[in-house]
Amino acid sequence: MNIITYIIRHKEILLEILEKFRTPAYIYFEEILQENVQKYFDAFKRYGKFKMMYAYKANTNIEICKILKNLNVGADVVSAGELHIAKHINLNSRDVIFTSNGKTDEGIDSALNFGCTINIDGFEEIEIIDEISKQINKRPKVSFRINPEVNPHTHDKIATGVKESKFGINFKEALNAYKLAGQKNFEILGIHCHIGSQITEIEPFVEEAKKISKIVTDLHKAGINLKFVDLGGGLGIDYLHNGSYNGLSHNDLANGILPIVENLNKNLRYDVELILEPGRSIVGNTGILLTKVLSIKRTPYKKFINADAGFNDLIRPAMYDAYHKILNLNDQSEGDEIFDVAGNLCESCDILGRGRKIKANRNDILAVLDAGAYGFSMCSNYNSMPKPAEILITKDKKVKVLREREKFSALIK
Ligand SMILES: Cc1ncc(COP(=O)(O)O)c(C=O)c1O
Repeated sequence: MNIITYIIRHKEILLEILEKFRTPAYIYFEEILQENVQKYFDAFKRYGKFKMMYAYKANTNIEICKILKNLNVGADVVSAGELHIAKHINLNSRDVIFTSNGKTDEGIDSALNFGCTINIDGFEEIEIIDEISKQINKRPKVSFRINPEVNPHTHDKIATGVKESKFGINFKEALNAYKLAGQKNFEILGIHCHIGSQITEIEPFVEEAKKISKIVTDLHKAGINLKFVDLGGGLGIDYLHNGSYNGLSHNDLANGILPIVENLNKNLRYDVELILEPGRSIVGNTGILLTKVLSIKRTPYKKFINADAGFNDLIRPAMYDAYHKILNLNDQSEGDEIFDVAGNLCESCDILGRGRKIKANRNDILAVLDAGAYGFSMCSNYNSMPKPAEILITKDKKVKVLREREKFSALIK
């Protein structure tokens, strides 16, 4: 589905919503969310034991999590808080994996009591989990996060499987980690890897899958047999919308990694479950951030469209230099002036989009596209800005308020 056409087709609903709910506001489209999930299931259907654990960090709005649960998608959680949400919506513990390089005792305790897989990130954590599990008399179900030393060719700040990364156990030490865990009363279930986000080439995924396969084979030889291989998330999405994106399709991803996993099964006579943990490619294009034009400003050097959303609402442009396409819902014609779309925070880096040919007037509504992932979930109250509303357009075109805009009273609690 073409997102721009889709949004323009929903323009009237969106402008209507804003008569009731002020900007900035996040809007999510259930239809697109479902389509994104289906693309994964279609691409991987030839592999019987395929499972998705959606990365909650991308967007933990509870309604989004519930929709995904109903589509048979589990959860990759990275904190006691995300685990709390997964439990709250009654996800089965088999469908939850708890990953973090720094798990709190509270998080470990909660995961042990719940019975989900705990994805161990370091050698000391083996001892910590062993100790806490003995105190509460629970047998841990575990996997290990492995750092395979693979360059994902993405932004440095979202590369997670390179040598110096804080995440995981180096692949050269994997066997020792499993052997140590084998001496404890652990149920060893799987192996995990996540090399980064917004990945647009197949090679890093292939290299990751090959390195993990090799470890699974070595473990088998050492008498440790695994039930699942989790290759993390990372599939990139098209933020540019100008026809130049040459990232991966879901089929490209499946065609790249399935032969490696199938080969592993064949060689070891295994039938491992293959898990992926997509975040961005599930919710990214599902959401937009609507923001109102407060004023137009022309200085001798630059021109600005001043909007009422800032990096407190969407931090990706300021933090990752990320590009988000911005559409004026009131006027889609291309202007001949070039503007920076500025947020309204007291920070020079608070620019939502640089060098844009947008025609805009005061009170026009701008839609910042592809804001569904790492958007609201990274919101803050910086400059005492209330957090925006979150609204869902359901698949039958109903408007459902998922979260009211935060009130000023919340700022002084
Ligand atoms: C462990 C883990 N799994 C999955 C994801 C999701 O990645 P993406 O949103 O790129 O699919 C992340 C994101 O950083 C992650 O840290």
